Amino acid sequence: MEAVLPDPTRFAGKVAIVTGAARGIGAGVAERFAADGAKVLLVDLLPEVLETAARLGQVGLVKSVTDRDAGETIAQAALKAFGRIDFLINNAGIGGSKRLLDSDDALIDRFLDTNLGSMLRITRSIVPHLPKPGGRIVNLSSIFGITGYPGTTAYAVAKAGVAQFTRQLAGELAPDGILVNAVAPGLIETPMTSGHLQNALYTRLMVEGTPVERLGQPADIAGPIAFFCSDDAAFVTGVVMPVDGGFLAARHGRI
Ligand SMILES: NC(=O)c1ccc[n+]([C@@H]2O[C@H](COP(=O)([O-])OP(=O)(O)OC[C@H]3O[C@@H](n4cnc5c(N)ncnc54)[C@H](O)[C@@H]3O)[C@@H](O)[C@H]2O)c1
Repeated sequence: MEAVLPDPTRFAGKVAIVTGAARGIGAGVAERFAADGAKVLLVDLLPEVLETAARLGQVGLVKSVTDRDAGETIAQAALKAFGRIDFLINNAGIGGSKRLLDSDDALIDRFLDTNLGSMLRITRSIVPHLPKPGGRIVNLSSIFGITGYPGTTAYAVAKAGVAQFTRQLAGELAPDGILVNAVAPGLIETPMTSGHLQNALYTRLMVEGTPVERLGQPADIAGPIAFFCSDDAAFVTGVVMPVDGGFLAARHGRI
């Protein structure tokens, strides 16, 4: 099958904010949006975000999304660099967590705030700057926010919250012409999952449970996110789309 090439005119004149963009899926999303002609502000708490941004010819900001002033700081940085904001990609997140009975208060707070609470606060700060109509928001949920996944409870609960946040916000912002959607990735090969992927049994079960029989790559997630921000998705809002090689639809399909 012929690869779909980026179109440098697709997002010409548009500005995207991508959180958690130093590496992994966020870096892949920033790369795709830049290739499609957008200007991109890459945000991360890791200083490496400045190198990732420089490599893509874009602008980086070192900032934790959990800082209470993150939303305003990110908005001002984007406006200062590019003068407008069209798309917000809420991607920053931390993976793992534990069974509930092994989770202390600090762990629960960290997972819920990094993966969900900060998303609400940052979005609240960015929305007033988005074009009405025309603004787009895409959130990162997970297949483990849709199906149960024992052993990583705070993470999965936060990701289910992201899915519901997406539906709530879609209804609240539709009258302004701002569309809000989410992707729910399956297992994607990134620094977040490199530890799990050392476990041969886990990897085998996940790959065998994925009908397309491979691990996902950041570009597999970036394409659907770009679609949600494109003119082709003008009638799409409140959707939480699994991007998982068929994992949720037909797990163990070959057995
Ligand atoms: N990789 C997967 O299999 C997978 C599956 C489902 C969902 N997701 C989601 O996709 C998103 C990206 O995951 P990834 O696999 O690329 O992870 P990753 O760890 O490779 O990258 C996440 C990035 O977010 C940044 N980040 C973490 N906390 C932050 C904070 N407080 N402030 C700013 N930046 C912060 C990290 O520094 C990192 O650069 C996450 O929301 C994750 O939950 C990933």
